[in-house]
Amino acid sequence: MSSSSGFQRRRRSPSPAALLGVVLAVAVAVGASTARDDGLGRTPQMGWSSWNHFGCGINEMVIRSTVDALVSTGLANAGYTYVNLDDCWADNQRTEQGLMSVNPKTFPSGIKALADYAHSKGLKLGLYSSAGTRTCSDKMPGSLGHEDIDAKTFASWDADYLKYDNCYRDDSNETVRFPKMSLALSNAGRPIFYSICEWGFMNVATWGGQYGNSWRTTGDINDTWASMLSNIDTNDAYAGYAKPGGWNDPDMLEVGNGGMSYREYVVHFSLWAIAKAPLIIGCDVSSISKETLSILTNSEVIAINQDPIGIQGKKVRKYDDEIEVWAGPLSQQRTAVLLLNRGAAGSRQVTAAWPDIVIGAGVAVEARDVWEDREHETLPGKFTGSLTAEVAPHSCKLFVLTPVAGQAGGAS
Ligand SMILES: *[C@@H]1O[C@H](CO)[C@@H](O)[C@H](O)[C@H]1NC(C)=O
Ligand SMILES: *[C@@H]1O[C@H](CO)[C@@H](O)[C@H](O)[C@H]1NC(C)=O
Repeated sequence: MSSSSGFQRRRRSPSPAALLGVVLAVAVAVGASTARDDGLGRTPQMGWSSWNHFGCGINEMVIRSTVDALVSTGLANAGYTYVNLDDCWADNQRTEQGLMSVNPKTFPSGIKALADYAHSKGLKLGLYSSAGTRTCSDKMPGSLGHEDIDAKTFASWDADYLKYDNCYRDDSNETVRFPKMSLALSNAGRPIFYSICEWGFMNVATWGGQYGNSWRTTGDINDTWASMLSNIDTNDAYAGYAKPGGWNDPDMLEVGNGGMSYREYVVHFSLWAIAKAPLIIGCDVSSISKETLSILTNSEVIAINQDPIGIQGKKVRKYDDEIEVWAGPLSQQRTAVLLLNRGAAGSRQVTAAWPDIVIGAGVAVEARDVWEDREHETLPGKFTGSLTAEVAPHSCKLFVLTPVAGQAGGAS
């Protein structure tokens, strides 16, 4: 058959692939018009924040040594890019000109110098404010009514990220106060990642993506098993709203802060990874233990979080109050599966059944345990229909399932 007759045929009747291309192009265009779409946050943001470990006790030496430690430990290479100052970096009052200014005692060199330092090491610098008259500590002015000037100030210091909290608000609506800062950041002349910290009020997931790169779906996490699970459960309800450019945020990591066991922190990190949550380290990285580092730098777990298709994994099966299966699709027809034992009593057998994790009935997969022995292990053999593993109390197993050669087309 000549190429010209092939061309004729295609002109008369567009191929399914061509039609799919049109559908995808339309879908992308629609997505772009409703998202903040500033090119930031194409995968969940990774970095560090001062709050969970240091609270208000920050100064420029803490931030500089954190920058140094992120580089020397390999965390920067693993993808942790943002170095975020949380509450308490600014002076108590605005200047006479109405500007927010740095606390001169704790940050005598100023924010611009810190940003320059972070940038010189290949990292980025984040700041914090509140959509109210004061920040949550009451030690800083908030940005309500000063959105434009504050966004321009942050940009003039070359800041790369803003976490925007919800303390000391007035009676006005979240759906008004948070978009105001979004617009101010867009007009500030510098790409600034916008992390909305609205605590899940007003169903923020349903509108946050138009304005922010991530939005908190929950109240504050604390360094306990109960708090960690409570936050990820709440966050799970909004899974459908996450996508490249905008992510549900169940709050920052507590891994390494000492309140949970090694296995519980593995569960914490695994759930955050599969749920496409921001991976913002909350411990003191300048005195980080080998064990904590081994969790935070597990490159196969990070790759699940940073997978380019950006679909949030969710709870797909709850067998009883202890046993759950979480799953989500990855690129190249792979699937991430997490088998969770929330119970404290003993080990349990946990089964991921193919219909629950949306794999075609006859599809055989190879299963890679991305935590096994803190190394990594591809299980012997292949699996069809289901995968079962024994899971210790307060523990999980996390697998990446890959259709075996010759069957890749069978995955649904
Ligand atoms: C806030 O705004 C939303 C959407 O515009 C509206 O549905 C809601 O009732 C408002 N809430 C308050 C407390 O004004
Ligand atoms: C930690 O969070 C849990 C669950 O959200 C809550 O019940 C508990 O009171 C919190 N603990 C502290 C010390 O804030």
